[in-house]
Amino acid sequence: LNNGLAMTPPMGWLTWERLRCITDCEKYPNECISESLIKRTADLMVSEGYLDAGYEYLGIDDCWLEKTRDDKGRLVPDRKRFPNGMKAIADYIHSKGLKFGMYEDYGNLTCAGYPGVLGNEKIDINTFVEWEIDYLKLDGCYIDPIQMDKGYPDFGKLLNATGRSILYSCSWPAYQEEKKILPNYASIAEHCNLGRNYDDIEDSWASLTKIMAWFGDNQDRLAQHAGPGHWNDPDMLLIGNFGLSVDQAKVQMAVWAILAAPLLISTDLATIRPEFKQILLNRDIIAVNQDKLGKQGLRVGKKMGSGSRSKLEIWKRELYDGSFAMAFVSYRDDGIPYAAKFTYYDMQLPQSEFEVQDLYKEEEIRSWDGTSDFEVRINPSGVKFYKFISKKSMSEIWDI
Ligand code: DGJ
Repeated sequence: LNNGLAMTPPMGWLTWERLRCITDCEKYPNECISESLIKRTADLMVSEGYLDAGYEYLGIDDCWLEKTRDDKGRLVPDRKRFPNGMKAIADYIHSKGLKFGMYEDYGNLTCAGYPGVLGNEKIDINTFVEWEIDYLKLDGCYIDPIQMDKGYPDFGKLLNATGRSILYSCSWPAYQEEKKILPNYASIAEHCNLGRNYDDIEDSWASLTKIMAWFGDNQDRLAQHAGPGHWNDPDMLLIGNFGLSVDQAKVQMAVWAILAAPLLISTDLATIRPEFKQILLNRDIIAVNQDKLGKQGLRVGKKMGSGSRSKLEIWKRELYDGSFAMAFVSYRDDGIPYAAKFTYYDMQLPQSEFEVQDLYKEEEIRSWDGTSDFEVRINPSGVKFYKFISKKSMSEIWDI
């Protein structure tokens, strides 16, 4: 969507993956979707360095509403959990230098059963503008996915006509893919800043790898539609929660950087363990994600061969300065880290000399001549994530 927003993939924090629809603040005061959660998270995003690293959007997902509209037909935030209303939340978020993300659903109801926007589009957009939101995730429950081809663009046009800059995240393709309807990705790129493509992410390695497999398998029809202003969205980061080991968390961060995916943290920033925080705040990896060329990377090698090269994938992204981000992901679970060797051809790199930097800084910088095999040793369900910086200019390389 050409609205000047999301020129690089959006970064921020969103409630859903970790906090879902927790509404009982008496029993779960630190986890319920509420004013205090949002304020506390805003404070931590600033004090713990997330905003400095680029995480700027603070978003509320489903379960913020009262079940009925007011007598003027307007949406009402839950009166107990948001006692001062949403404008007060926006003011607080903005006072911290952050941006405010909101959630609604294009259908009759949100997925969790709160009022959706259908039939009230104009009045709801007015409300959002009054509340000074900066980002809207529009979900797609309780509506026929066929209607989305027109409905999402129509809603987006109304949103754009308000004059307020609001990033528009569309769940449109996910609901069509689910029903085996081929989404019109060109139209999604034209009308949305983000298109959620596939299943909701769950807190497990199985869910993460299922999503990675789907993005790899469908990359030919997806990647061409990603670029500045419009990105594919494989869903939130699980990093810091219960289901991923530290190595597995490194896989998600690396692959999301390759995919030019939005980086939406969904974890409790008050209790996150330092090793996970370090992954989220890795500036070199964030720089890959935010690379201004804006080209979505690809899975260039999949579980190749047998023996030492089985259960491996190579993911590659071209960067603005002519270098390449290369993630070597291992799906092995048989104990030791295994070493594997790759040629320039396996890695789909130009045959040239490179300086190779380990973006997780586990290895020293090394030189690779482009002709010998490149050896990588990867932990089980882990990743090695490198930047390959050519010692020659790109034009020299490709002219050889
Ligand atoms: C489905 C979406 O895909 C999720 O990300 C989340 O927003 C839930 N709905 C909320 O009900």
